Amino acid sequence: MNGDPGHGPAMLRVAHHAKAAHELNPNHVGTMTRLSRGKFITLEGGEGAGKSTLLAGLQQYLVDQGVSLVQTREPGGTPLGEAVRAIVLDPAQRGMCAEAELLLMFASRAQLVRECIEPALAAGKWVLCDRFTDASYAYQGGGRGVAVDRIATLEQWATDGLRPDLTLLLDLPVATGRARAAGRGEADRIEVEADAFFERVRAAYRARAAAEPERFRLIDASLSPAQVLAAAIDATSHLFGVNA
Ligand SMILES: Nc1ncnc2c1ncn2[C@@H]1O[C@H](COP(=O)(O)OP(=O)(O)O)[C@@H](O)[C@H]1O
Ligand SMILES: [Mg+2]
Repeated sequence: MNGDPGHGPAMLRVAHHAKAAHELNPNHVGTMTRLSRGKFITLEGGEGAGKSTLLAGLQQYLVDQGVSLVQTREPGGTPLGEAVRAIVLDPAQRGMCAEAELLLMFASRAQLVRECIEPALAAGKWVLCDRFTDASYAYQGGGRGVAVDRIATLEQWATDGLRPDLTLLLDLPVATGRARAAGRGEADRIEVEADAFFERVRAAYRARAAAEPERFRLIDASLSPAQVLAAAIDATSHLFGVNA
């Protein structure tokens, strides 16, 4: 999982560019610092869309490119986050209100950003995360009807407004995703929601992708795993550029 920093094409190109900038302008330290920051990639989509499947393939690809990579997930990714995940997905917590759910998701996220994501990016590592803030806009916003401006306030506060460099949205008809997820065993607290809930989640995800086409890549998740991986790899190509 942890590639050797500085040995992949991405790192080499960054190092080369940093040196050139330094030679041209010795005062360009700020630019050099920004160039060495890692890239933040998130995977989004409904239940059974194929996020975990893609994560494994994409991780292998990036490591093969020489990228030093940290893989994590939401809710979870830290000891505190994993404890929150257990609560949030526990079918026994069926009385959880939307506000509590939202705050728990952001509690996990605040910890993940500070303990894992920001330190990794600052060290030049890339971070591949199974879900992030877009999931709150989709699930608690679209799905449960929490006002978008409340989520935006929490985003600013809990994550300092950290946005991924690239978000891969695996888009799939709700019925297809549910049929795939059903093969995984017992449904968690969120998976037992009605189809209408997941239709709203899907619509909210698609609206976010349409509003931010520079950051999002919408991928047809009904394609084969190999085709989905190829689309994801294609979407990462611009992240390797020196000015990406
Ligand atoms: N592109 C695909 N085509 C068909 N089945 C898939 C595809 N991607 C994943 N699957 C299968 O669907 C199920 C759910 O996939 P998973 O990666 O766990 O989805 P998610 O993490 O988004 O919930 C698994 O059984 C997986 O093998
Ligand atoms: Mg998964």
